[in-house]
Amino acid sequence: MKKIITVENIDQVFSDQSSLDSLKSSILNDDIVIVRDVISQKLIQEIKGYLTQVGKSSFPNYERIKFGAKDFHRINNNDPRAYVKGAFHQFVFYPWNQNYFDLFNQFSKAYQLKNILSGIEPDAFMFPTKEDDFTARIAFQFYPKGIGYLNNHADPVDQHQIAVPILVMSEKGIDFNEGGAYVKYEDEKVFIEDHTEIGDVVFFKASLEHGVDKVDVQSDAAWLDFKGRWMGLLAVNQFFNTNVISESVELKQKKI
Ligand SMILES: [Fe+2]
Repeated sequence: MKKIITVENIDQVFSDQSSLDSLKSSILNDDIVIVRDVISQKLIQEIKGYLTQVGKSSFPNYERIKFGAKDFHRINNNDPRAYVKGAFHQFVFYPWNQNYFDLFNQFSKAYQLKNILSGIEPDAFMFPTKEDDFTARIAFQFYPKGIGYLNNHADPVDQHQIAVPILVMSEKGIDFNEGGAYVKYEDEKVFIEDHTEIGDVVFFKASLEHGVDKVDVQSDAAWLDFKGRWMGLLAVNQFFNTNVISESVELKQKKI
């Protein structure tokens, strides 16, 4: 059984090199790190309300990751072109666009912690130029009940990140009952939302096997009902025309 490490206060780790070192070694040791209460529940409710309106009343589209790209939302409904098969509704924000919530400022501490743990200068990727290979990119993902899932996969661990922070935006037992994000070890699956509250940010090593088990299999909810599971990915991605790191790989899921 792997350990779940809980950090009660994100501010306190910034000033303490030994806590940073021990968090980094926990992540590299395959532990799951939960940082409590990074983003206020009020802000998360506002974001979910806004994205629901945008999602219901505008066309889904796709934009490649290039400097100057528009923010957008898209659905991935078992798209055969995806590196990892899944079904979810995604809302993407880039740092060069203005948004109503000042998201990159609101989420800066979580990004800074991610960068510091990856051995990178705290504000890296937050103010990209077109000469850069990478950009910060916030992706909110909505997994409708009865539909949403993401197959078992591993993401590249490379120079730019050891972990992709996940913002918890839904509560298991209230917003949904079964499934959700998991990390898979040799002999067990740890379901992240069994251990979290809305507003927590979760770190685990990107190369661990992980995915999203179908949310509430029995539900007959539809995409536009917006009932199900929300999360936020505080990602750093390479621009589509650079080729510095490898892509995510889907892994066969053994039944455990
Ligand atoms: Fe992933």
